[in-house]
Amino acid sequence: MSAKIFEPIYTEDVIADKIKELAKSISSDYGRIEPLIVGILRGSTVFMADLARELTINAYFDFIVVTRYGDKDKGGQLRVVKDLNYPIEGKDVLIVEDIIDEGITLMQLKKELLKRKPSTLKICTLFDKPVRRIADIVPDYIGFEIPDKFVIGYGMDYKQKYRNIPYLAAMEES
Ligand code: IMP
Ligand code: MG
Repeated sequence: MSAKIFEPIYTEDVIADKIKELAKSISSDYGRIEPLIVGILRGSTVFMADLARELTINAYFDFIVVTRYGDKDKGGQLRVVKDLNYPIEGKDVLIVEDIIDEGITLMQLKKELLKRKPSTLKICTLFDKPVRRIADIVPDYIGFEIPDKFVIGYGMDYKQKYRNIPYLAAMEES
């Protein structure tokens, strides 16, 4: 079995500072509007918990689980494994995502949620790998742009492991 090497990228403190900045912009942009923040399980849980507690406005919570099935190289089809608990018609929805890579899942999810006629729909991602983008998706709030490396920690996994590492690290196999 090959060894995994972790190269730290962002410390807990650096991530916390960035989340404070993001929360400040979100709170000021929404103002008197109380958004429904929608976390995409499971990767976004750690970020959502930290972001929500830095907001100075009230926010409602909901969660969704999606996967893609079929030929992923051709985009695949979005399958909602666990749907939102409530309708979003007329609501101000803010999707909270851990990382955007090719962007296909999020583009399909956005399309699906727009059918439900929210009043507004925005996307906030903590990490973004823009060089990997295939789908035409531009998040409204981005924490960090990162290079094309596989990262783990701060909610993100490799084969379901390492989500609870409190900082971000790049993973390489030796
Ligand atoms: P996309 O459709 O390629 O944008 O897929 C994005 C999803 O893939 C994210 O929500 C993550 O769950 C996962 N993902 C993408 N890049 C990474 C990574 O570097 N580490 C861990 N998970 C990742
Ligand atoms: Mg995810």
